[in-house]
Amino acid sequence: MNVVRKHVRRMHPYVPGEQPKERGLVKLNTNENPYPPSPKVLAAVKQSVDQRLRLYPDPKANKLRAQLASLHGVEPENVIVGNGSDELLALAARAFVEPGRDCVQYFTPSYSLYRVLADIHNAKRNEVSLLDDFAMPTVAQLRKGKNWDFKAALTYVTTPNAPSGRGYTTAELDAFCSAHRGVVLLDEAYVDFAHEHAMGLVVKHPHVLVSRTFSKAYSLCFQRIGYFVGSVELIAGLDKIRDSYNVNGLGQIAAQATLRELPFYRSNFGKIIRFREDVAAQLAKLGFQTLPSQTNFILTKAPRFKACTWLKKLRERKILVRWFKDPRVEDFLRITIGNEKEMQTLFRAVKAILRG
Ligand SMILES: Cc1ncc(COP(=O)(O)O)c(C=O)c1O
Repeated sequence: MNVVRKHVRRMHPYVPGEQPKERGLVKLNTNENPYPPSPKVLAAVKQSVDQRLRLYPDPKANKLRAQLASLHGVEPENVIVGNGSDELLALAARAFVEPGRDCVQYFTPSYSLYRVLADIHNAKRNEVSLLDDFAMPTVAQLRKGKNWDFKAALTYVTTPNAPSGRGYTTAELDAFCSAHRGVVLLDEAYVDFAHEHAMGLVVKHPHVLVSRTFSKAYSLCFQRIGYFVGSVELIAGLDKIRDSYNVNGLGQIAAQATLRELPFYRSNFGKIIRFREDVAAQLAKLGFQTLPSQTNFILTKAPRFKACTWLKKLRERKILVRWFKDPRVEDFLRITIGNEKEMQTLFRAVKAILRG
């Protein structure tokens, strides 16, 4: 007897980057922030570990939503908080897409979870390739290509793009959103490392949602906090179907404390952005071709060996980077920008591998 639904049996699950058990590895594979949270955030969490743990957290994350609303110049009703932005990306499929009938659409390559979410939901999928340099096709190009569905129920856009790191301008995203009839979800997981953000588009377009996370720029992956900003109508639809206590209490406290410490984090983004350019320049001297990035990682083509061989050789030297077996990016390694010490370890390993 097979009790698992047919489409679930057929689908491939999401494969997260390796979270190693062994110690002493240099972890440049999942775009975590190399710097710890602010000491005040750590203190706020530690001070909250007391008898309160027996109580349920605020089901609506009201304090956090109020802070986020004030940060973005919207009302709390325009904000929903999730157990990481991944939870909300999944909720979007459940709220806006009719299984078996409607279409979930996205560019390739982009965040590989979108495909899995479409499959879990048994939605139709429309995958359209980004241009050769990972630029987004213009609306005119998409119309000409005839394979893009401007009425798709849900369109996910990773901006800046992952895994390429390429950034998109607000003007091009605005033109893109204007052309759509279904929900457009701008996934800005890495936007703090980019030149521009598109938060203003949620005010202009009632069918647009912007997704943000505390995982990358705010060193808070462990606490799982992400959020969407959008029109009251879309946010209310998502709010109806989320788990009552979807955001854990310590996560809410950590995120609230983070928002009181924004200057601390902004100086970290600056450091990572400057270092990213430095890393690309140093790798170029060793024969690596790195794409321009507006994120906290780089996509780079390594010399001499295939990218999958580099992955293994670096792993043997206790350095984890990411490689995707996808024709568009299989010649590249995706390397998270770590701290200075980690990147020095990477450079030493690369030089040793090149010496053979
Ligand atoms: C493009 C993109 N969106 C969303 C996420 C998920 O972030 P979170 O930790 O908030 O679930 C990731 C994480 O890797 C990502 O790369």
